[in-house]
Amino acid sequence: MKNDVLRWGIIGGGLMGREFASALGRWFALTDEDLPKAELVAVCDLSESAREWFRRVPTVQQITADAEELLQNPDVDAVYVALPHHLHRDFYFKTLRAGKDLLAEKPFGIDLEAAQTIRDEAENLGRFVRCSSELPFLPGGQRVWRFLSENRADLGRILEIRAGFHHSSDLDASKPANWKRQNATCGQAGVMNDLGMHVAHLPLRLGWKPRSVYAQLQKGYALRPDGRGGQTLCDTWDNALLHCDLEIAGESVPMRWEMKRMAPTETNTWFIEVLGTQAGIRFSTKEPKTLYIFENGREQWWKTTDLGHKMAFETVTGGIFEAGFPDSILQMLASFAAERAGVLGDKFGMVRPEEAVLSHQIWQAALQSHQTKRAVRV
Ligand SMILES: NC(=O)c1ccc[n+]([C@@H]2O[C@H](COP(=O)([O-])OP(=O)(O)OC[C@H]3O[C@@H](n4cnc5c(N)ncnc54)[C@H](O)[C@@H]3O)[C@@H](O)[C@H]2O)c1
Repeated sequence: MKNDVLRWGIIGGGLMGREFASALGRWFALTDEDLPKAELVAVCDLSESAREWFRRVPTVQQITADAEELLQNPDVDAVYVALPHHLHRDFYFKTLRAGKDLLAEKPFGIDLEAAQTIRDEAENLGRFVRCSSELPFLPGGQRVWRFLSENRADLGRILEIRAGFHHSSDLDASKPANWKRQNATCGQAGVMNDLGMHVAHLPLRLGWKPRSVYAQLQKGYALRPDGRGGQTLCDTWDNALLHCDLEIAGESVPMRWEMKRMAPTETNTWFIEVLGTQAGIRFSTKEPKTLYIFENGREQWWKTTDLGHKMAFETVTGGIFEAGFPDSILQMLASFAAERAGVLGDKFGMVRPEEAVLSHQIWQAALQSHQTKRAVRV
């Protein structure tokens, strides 16, 4: 495995395509000898300025506006597809049928039906497919995952679970709209399609599948500047509160998922909190170095620790220097490469196709719940 190279292509070189390329550029910082090397060799985007940006990446040999050309390239092993949601199904299919492995972007198809067909196609063709969700790979997310996987019994009876992802950028009514603000391109699930996978990944991996959901959905500004001097319709849900019921050890447990584009003061805040009768744990990117834990006693106190920045896949940086968003992407890509190569071991894995399908089942139930004002079985 040592000398193998995982050769990547990107279809969609916008915001996330560039983040992916930049994170991959730091691959040599990873110290794990079992990981294959990885490099970006091909990029496809319709926009000339997007393609032009990739000329700065020295390993890139092919830059094209035609996805078929990239998919015919025998030097590409796996493709990261970072396109608007209405294009996911078509381009994920093309990628799989071209014999490439796939790193899909969330929400893994615009709706449940798309997600199911992509999952089925990947299974039929035997391709390795994972879906993006990088924030649980930050050191705080990893500590929460380890604690809850290995010390579940220490929590006692679980009382409540809360997880969320909050932005405030949509409070700015002058912010121009893009495809993420329109149902036709973002999907009917709106903010759930946009932010939901970040929230769902860790709870679903811990086996916390909602039995039912009661949802409250809100829209933001109906009109926004279109960036060309006019205005355009924004019809997506901007905020979603999902009150879920699940069963843990024979008990009914409330789990609240919060996805908000209009959360005053919040800028990319990802958090999870789990409270039990004996102990609890809490992490938020608002305090990226701090892990909160409480143990029950005569009084309950939140204990905090500077958790440091040691990563699951160690890097030359060690555990001292601060981790950020690009590091979480590098860790996620390392996880993809390790799992694909069969060397993930007990490390945390990316979202699996069946988890992505389950997330869409939850969003579908949430849409129905909001409409009927009733809890809906998932
Ligand atoms: N994981 C995360 O944290 C995260 C963050 C933001 C977005 N996303 C997801 O990433 C995906 C892309 O989002 P983005 O913010 O990068 O979008 P974006 O609009 O910035 O980029 C999309 C790119 O796709 C290109 N494109 C459109 N149609 C194409 C086609 N037919 N062929 C080739 N290129 C085409 C566009 O020119 C554009 O450069 C979405 O699924 C989104 O939900 C994930």
